[in-house]
Amino acid sequence: MKQGSMNRSCLCSVLITTALICGAYFICNAYLAKDFKEKLLKWEITDKMHNSTDKMQNATTTSTCKNFNKPVGTEALPQGIIEKTSNLETQHLWNYDDTKKRRPNHSMSLLAMAVGIKQKELVNKVIQKFPPRDFAVMLFHYDGVVDDWKQYPWNNHAIHVSVMNQTKWWFAKRFLHPDIVAEYEYIFLWDEDLGVGHFNPQRYLSIVKEEGLEISQPALDTSKSEVHHPITARQKKSKVHRRMYKYKGSGRCDDHSTNPPCIGWVEMMAPVFSRAAWRCSWYMIQNDLIHAWGLDTQLGYCAQVGFFF
Ligand SMILES: *[C@@H]1O[C@H](CO)[C@@H](O)[C@H](O)[C@H]1NC(C)=O
Ligand SMILES: *[C@@H]1O[C@H](CO)[C@@H](O)[C@H](O)[C@H]1NC(C)=O
Repeated sequence: MKQGSMNRSCLCSVLITTALICGAYFICNAYLAKDFKEKLLKWEITDKMHNSTDKMQNATTTSTCKNFNKPVGTEALPQGIIEKTSNLETQHLWNYDDTKKRRPNHSMSLLAMAVGIKQKELVNKVIQKFPPRDFAVMLFHYDGVVDDWKQYPWNNHAIHVSVMNQTKWWFAKRFLHPDIVAEYEYIFLWDEDLGVGHFNPQRYLSIVKEEGLEISQPALDTSKSEVHHPITARQKKSKVHRRMYKYKGSGRCDDHSTNPPCIGWVEMMAPVFSRAAWRCSWYMIQNDLIHAWGLDTQLGYCAQVGFFF
């Protein structure tokens, strides 16, 4: 069993010079958003009321309220003695010098890929596009080969996990629990066989933020990639597209289409999740997925999560 991507004969080229992301989800659900705002408001008010009343009264509700911000399982701990998150940076085991500690003062994102040594050149090209200042790199070795990556300068900063014959989805389920990766603003969960000659991750994320995309993927360069789903193809002259049109033949997509793959759909080979969307998507992933085809049509639910945070 190999990575899902290995079965594709194509080299998919991800291209983002001047523009374009495709299949980006943004399903606007005004009712949900409103409903949630009202709920939020209620919680705030409740909180204030409790603060101003005798805390011994209503002990149950008070403690529920106070526990609202505590991670599950830490309810018994007093306020203020734990850190909810960690910055996930590596630490020095000896010669500890606090002044040299690398503490990013900006948000980081994560590039996570399942890789085999046979694809090392392509993988190297991808990783070189992701500057270490902004991206942590996590490699999951499904062929058990870890040492042969040492030739690359980024190797020491990458986190390596080696488990034989498992897929990207197994790895994501096992090692990318949303609580564990909560520090990362975006998660790139990519296949190893992507060509990134014209891709710039920072530019990509600036578009993602500008457009408020919760789940997205870079568009495919049609001259270099085998395109299976037209929505994933780059559309010239547009920066982002959220839907596609097809007026002839089967599988038509027009202005009335409301479902994938006409609208709100990304392919499983190069998805990019916001922190909130990942928290939702992780629950949809199961560890026996191979290609995860089919999951892609359901991810749209998780693209609405922005409204809940
Ligand atoms: C973050 O740190 C860098 C140096 O690592 C510094 O140049 C930059 O000004 C800092 N930014 C903020 C907002 O503090
Ligand atoms: C992994 O897959 C290869 C090829 O199918 C097989 O030879 C090997 O025994 C497998 N290893 C494990 C630990 O499952």
